[in-house]
Amino acid sequence: MRTEINGFDLLNPEMYLKKLSILNFKNYTEAELEFSPQVNCLTGNNGEGKTNVLDAIHYLSFCKSFFNSIDSQNILHDSPFFLIQGTYNGEDKEEEIYCGLKRNQKKQFKRNKKEYQRLADHIGLFPLVMISPADSELITEGSESRRRFIDSVIAQFDRNYLEDLIAYNKVLSHRNALLKQFADSRKFDIESLEIWDIQLIEYGTKVHEKRSNFINKFIPIFQKYYELISGGKEQVGINYISHLNENTFSEVLIKALSRDRAIEYTTVGIHKDDLEFTINGYPLKKFASQGQQKSFLIALKLAQFEFIKNIKNSTPILLLDDIYDKLDDLRVKQLMNIVASDNFGQLFITDTHPTRLASIFTGSETDFKLYHIKEGNAEEVTKNQLSEASN
Ligand SMILES: Nc1ncnc2c1ncn2[C@@H]1O[C@H](COP(=O)(O)OP(=O)(O)OP(=O)(O)O)[C@@H](O)[C@H]1O
Ligand SMILES: [Mg+2]
Repeated sequence: MRTEINGFDLLNPEMYLKKLSILNFKNYTEAELEFSPQVNCLTGNNGEGKTNVLDAIHYLSFCKSFFNSIDSQNILHDSPFFLIQGTYNGEDKEEEIYCGLKRNQKKQFKRNKKEYQRLADHIGLFPLVMISPADSELITEGSESRRRFIDSVIAQFDRNYLEDLIAYNKVLSHRNALLKQFADSRKFDIESLEIWDIQLIEYGTKVHEKRSNFINKFIPIFQKYYELISGGKEQVGINYISHLNENTFSEVLIKALSRDRAIEYTTVGIHKDDLEFTINGYPLKKFASQGQQKSFLIALKLAQFEFIKNIKNSTPILLLDDIYDKLDDLRVKQLMNIVASDNFGQLFITDTHPTRLASIFTGSETDFKLYHIKEGNAEEVTKNQLSEASN
């Protein structure tokens, strides 16, 4: 089954990763794993290679690592290349994805043996959402990481969005250069500034409108997930902060002009947008516990998942890295109930505890596989072994 929505070529919604083969990737020399279409648990001690499996799966969807943007650093130390291959089960056919990198050469990325000319053509075909401890940067870091989060979701359903954003940033750097030039030459020419302002307003207003529409739809979905995870213990909120919320862009530019000239930089616009996170009405970063912050981040990502799923009419693969980190058993259980429900598809979860996750799924209708990871080797733990271990 093939469909096209908003110019995106979509695979069928039932797709899942059936088999993963990796060679010389991070701490793996060679591994081959077969997966359940539902839940896959990866257990093992710190540093054994659980997250590395998730990262290999991330490569197959996004053509890059979730963690390290320097591809060559993901090659096993002292090896000449890495290879990641995935076999996906589609409704009517299998899909083979290949990602290979030789040191000092261009990355090769293939779908069904055909090499992509542009990696961008692949991204989005095999949707995937990763929930990881690194998400905490959304709370701890500056506004850029939060804008990146919004932008990455909107870009998935709106092809023109990134173009508008890129155009905006280009105009912005021209405008900033001109402000600097005015200061250096001690001359000011409003007309040449207005040339940039017109374009800045055009693109900026479009981006603001799209962000604002998106966040309005996103908030109730996010709140629903937070309530499910926390059992309704706290109220959470997201406020979209933008100079353009109350005034038009041209009004705020005029107001900021003398300051912009003094600082030699454009101080207002959508490049300053932010999201304010709250818990019971107070700023999340200052007033939420670690577990509440973690719950907040997971709810954000689950809402992102639901958004992508609805837009693409295709269920993303969900990677959950280290979810026991900071969450109590009750919240992990609630989370597992959510992600094992019919609204979710294939799932990969890591845990340092050998049987804690399996005990949640044993006895339920959920199909699951469990791998024990040790020094870059993955060994399947069968259900018999699990029940023996628990007796
Ligand atoms: N290019 C590489 N070559 C060899 N080993 C690597 C490479 N990159 C990372 N590693 C190793 O991979 C290991 C980390 O694996 P990973 O992050 O998957 O661990 P983990 O099982 O998720 O551990 P934790 O429970 O601490 O999260 C480290 O020992 C690290 O040194
Ligand atoms: Mg890890």
